[in-house]
Amino acid sequence: MKYDKSLLNPYIQGKDIDRNNFSDVIITPNHMFSICQRFMGAGMSQNFGAIMILEHYNSIHDFQYVIEIGSEKGCLSTYLANLAGMTERFFFETYEISKQSHWYNREIEGAGHWFEKLEKISPFISSHEADIFSDDVLSHVEENMHDNNLKTLIFCDGGNKIKELEVYAPLLKPEDRIMVHDWNIEISEASINHIMKDNNLVYDEPMSHSCGNLGTTMMVFRKS
Ligand SMILES: C[S@@+](CC[C@H](N)C(=O)[O-])C[C@H]1O[C@@H](n2cnc3c(N)ncnc32)[C@H](O)[C@@H]1O
Repeated sequence: MKYDKSLLNPYIQGKDIDRNNFSDVIITPNHMFSICQRFMGAGMSQNFGAIMILEHYNSIHDFQYVIEIGSEKGCLSTYLANLAGMTERFFFETYEISKQSHWYNREIEGAGHWFEKLEKISPFISSHEADIFSDDVLSHVEENMHDNNLKTLIFCDGGNKIKELEVYAPLLKPEDRIMVHDWNIEISEASINHIMKDNNLVYDEPMSHSCGNLGTTMMVFRKS
């Protein structure tokens, strides 16, 4: 049987990720640390260390509910969705304020078309076009973290990480964790001192150091 060639995606992969085009360089471990990778052939605004961190962090804590704030192109979302679907040990949901710009955009490696299939087949996976600060989203998250008492990891990677931490940190139970991306780029200790103090947040060691060592620009917190 001949495959239908017309089904092939016409877009050239990686037009906007050329700074990570490794075709003419000898790859070293340092390349693993560079941000804005292609993962599973689609776009992910993380380095490869982020996958390793999340894989281990999840296996250590056995979270029951994982929330990604900011889906963008969706390949980190697709990784976490597959982790949820394969293990069937946590519910994963990702939030994006506008799915049209990146999520469904094949030309810039959006992975939404594939995520859509995953969420149809697994009750553990869902994506939402919604504002993370809306009352609907907040009450849904609160219902699952508190009424449902799910052990939770929140990953703040939307448009305003400081506000995301400020709004979501108060929901944390002692066993929950909250992680931010772009540490010391868009958000730093100086900018969130008051949030840490008001919510009794501390860095979650040793993972917070591991995040730095792998160049992820992630930082992770727990209640003290
Ligand atoms: C840095 S990108 C996310 C990258 C993604 N987590 C990854 O690792 O590939 C941030 C995304 O957050 C979305 N965003 C910004 N404000 C938001 C809000 N209030 N609610 C939901 N999503 C938001 C933006 O549209 C953008 O796509």
